[in-house]
Amino acid sequence: MAAAVPVAVAALLATAGPAAAGPVHGGPAAHRATAGAPGAGDPYFPLAGNGGYHVSHYGLTLRYDPRTRHLDGTAVLTARATQALSRFDLDLKGLKVTAVTVDHAKAGYRRAGQELVVTPRTALRKGHDFRVTVTYSGTPEPATDPDGSADGWIPTDDGAFVAGEPQGAMTWFPANNHPLDKASYDFTLTVPRGDTAVANGVFLGSRTAGARTTFRWRQSEPMAAYLATATVGRFQVQQYTTRDGVKVYNAVDPREAKAAAPVLKQLPSVLEWESRLFGPYPFRAAGAIVDHAPGVGYALETQSRPLYDSAPDLATLVHESAHQWFGDSVSLTRWQDIWLNEGFATYAEWLWTEQHGGSSAQQEFDALYARPASDGLWAFAPGDPGSGANIFATPVYARGAMTLHELRKAVGDPAFFRVLRAWASAHRDGHGTTAQFIALAERISGRNLDGLFHTWLLTGGKPAAP
Ligand code: ARG
Ligand code: ZN
Repeated sequence: MAAAVPVAVAALLATAGPAAAGPVHGGPAAHRATAGAPGAGDPYFPLAGNGGYHVSHYGLTLRYDPRTRHLDGTAVLTARATQALSRFDLDLKGLKVTAVTVDHAKAGYRRAGQELVVTPRTALRKGHDFRVTVTYSGTPEPATDPDGSADGWIPTDDGAFVAGEPQGAMTWFPANNHPLDKASYDFTLTVPRGDTAVANGVFLGSRTAGARTTFRWRQSEPMAAYLATATVGRFQVQQYTTRDGVKVYNAVDPREAKAAAPVLKQLPSVLEWESRLFGPYPFRAAGAIVDHAPGVGYALETQSRPLYDSAPDLATLVHESAHQWFGDSVSLTRWQDIWLNEGFATYAEWLWTEQHGGSSAQQEFDALYARPASDGLWAFAPGDPGSGANIFATPVYARGAMTLHELRKAVGDPAFFRVLRAWASAHRDGHGTTAQFIALAERISGRNLDGLFHTWLLTGGKPAAP
């Protein structure tokens, strides 16, 4: 191997001529190193994510003071170059960066909107494993989504509600902020004594020193950046292990505790019921964060531990729990396919109701189908929302669920539930696309389903009566 290197160098030097601007210490590959793309190529969010590398792990050490709203952070990203990189971007919005190193060497950096452009001292070879450390601080500001809602680091009266879908992760840590790039996470979160900081995965312990307490969390299964949380507040904490060995950690704002208690009590039975339907629960940890965050207006399926802006009702708990399979364990490759998350979680609500003495999925379907053609439900096809502004609109949820119901009717219950389980297991800890889902449903049912998906998923307007 070593003997071949001089030949390669000579060949490169002969063809490439004098090195273009930039350092050459990186060796042969450096000559051809180029900048990583500023986005992952998602037309709905062109600058979300970045090209040229994959992150395998984030180590986030944060210190937050709810009174001053000041955040100090150090993010250590372990990554691998997927091309020879002269420089690469991270996504970070707001905050002040004070230092960046790559493989422990000081790196150049500049800010350009939501891009943090990092230039390592030497170019990175394709396949090189590297470590980026970003030191930053400031007052995080929530992001405004295309639909007008806020996400990211959202201050509350006693801390912060931290929910990153679709774009908000970059408001509190530098990330490859697209669900295509999943990684494991370690969190070390320091807050004033008396406050609690809750992240994803398994709770590793806390330590109080003087006026501050540090909470440590580990999310070992791969997670998309938007599903990360580090929610801070005054919480009542409840911990237990389920019969299946899943470690549950619930954090509840005392103002929501009374309303939340009867619903949270059902979490183990909801997870068991969903495990029977969808296959084994995909994570080591589970739980809920029930915050008191009036004005947020939504809940989020933060991985292993959904985040609620107030005490959830049972349907919402079922919905966010179903996302652990559909959306979290099986991730999107592009935001256009959002119905794979929201249509499935909504259909899980219908199934729960149907199997617990309520209306049938058919009745839910019929009630929706009765809406006039002018209703917003028919405004666009759930498989083609058109832009990031529509990804959380009614057609994605309700008509996405109607699509699954049509599939169920077409292939019958046994094949339908086989498809759901096969989807969750084949793409566990990974990704799935709409085309892959259709192909799987066709393979398992032995049916050509083009017409069905074309009508229900991909064509705008109200379909003719099924
Ligand atoms: N995925 C969440 C849910 O359905 C909704 C998130 C909405 N986020 C937003 N920024 N509007 O459960
Ligand atoms: Zn949802």
